[in-house]
Amino acid sequence: MQNNKRPESLARITTTQAAEAFIQEQIAEVRAQVGDKKVLLALSGGVDSSVVAALLIKAIGKQLVCVHVNHGLLRQGEPEQVVEVFKGQMDANLVYVDAVDRFLDKLAGVSDPETKRKIIGSEFIEVFKEEAQKLEGVKFLAQGTIYPDIIESEKGVKAHHNVGGLPEQLGFELVEPLKFLYKDEVRVVGDTLGLPANMVYRQPFPGPGLGVRCLGAITRDRLECVRRSDAILREEFAKNGLEGKVWQYFTVVPDFKSVGVKDGKRTFAWPVILRAVNTKDAMTATVEDVPFALLQHITERITGEVEGVNRVLYDLTPKPCGTIEWE
Ligand code: XMP
Repeated sequence: MQNNKRPESLARITTTQAAEAFIQEQIAEVRAQVGDKKVLLALSGGVDSSVVAALLIKAIGKQLVCVHVNHGLLRQGEPEQVVEVFKGQMDANLVYVDAVDRFLDKLAGVSDPETKRKIIGSEFIEVFKEEAQKLEGVKFLAQGTIYPDIIESEKGVKAHHNVGGLPEQLGFELVEPLKFLYKDEVRVVGDTLGLPANMVYRQPFPGPGLGVRCLGAITRDRLECVRRSDAILREEFAKNGLEGKVWQYFTVVPDFKSVGVKDGKRTFAWPVILRAVNTKDAMTATVEDVPFALLQHITERITGEVEGVNRVLYDLTPKPCGTIEWE
């Protein structure tokens, strides 16, 4: 039986010093657990998996095999950053899998949100399983499980593991060095391990990625609109002091067009919806009061720079009655 109760002796990690002590302790524990065997990790580039990767690289170096699956639904620059940070800077044993076509082909013509989620989830497991089978001597699977995951799974709110179904399907023993930490502590540990701030402090990003923001059946051109407009929104929020202040912000592109006019010519193009919300637990959310001038500037940039877009809208709906995501 695995112990899933945070030890009372573990004081809240708020300083570099405390994080350093935690890291040293975990390095010793992981080394004792895995010996000379290999450990596999699905490295998405999100906060939790990135911190686990950095910690395990320190503990066991090349015995850790990181698999980064690019499913084509990541934000602009994310796959490149994973490769740059983990392979370039940390010299990790990183397998980069370009599965873009595979995912987008499977998703072609699928418009129901839950079916899209299921396809993305099961295809991810398939790709990961195939990569795992190519490797020899892997006995362990590392996961970025954190304490709220354990608490929520005990309450029946959601399944315990981040990547649905992986441990059961692969039959590996789990390595979960962050399982007693809260998110803020994971960030302090990530900082102390030298991960870039934009990786450690990034906003929440759903597992199905941009797939649930390219509404209805995903097409490559509309997906590109989501990615480009999201990059502009993030850049403008960063420039204008909203990064780190607003809890979650992103763009959504619906699958309908409207009439517009550009350079004296009629256009028929997609709208981009901006969403920026604040919340503590994602159960309820309020809308950020973004300065009107900034909204106008973002509108100008998106309509000027993103192909196939002729309108920008701001979603004023709190949760409830809207959810944070559109799908
Ligand atoms: P909603 O849209 O339910 O979102 O108000 C609440 C929070 O959960 C995130 N979200 C997801 N995260 N897989 C995830 O890992 C999903 O399928 C998913 N759907 C929503 C959403 O981004 C927000 O932070």
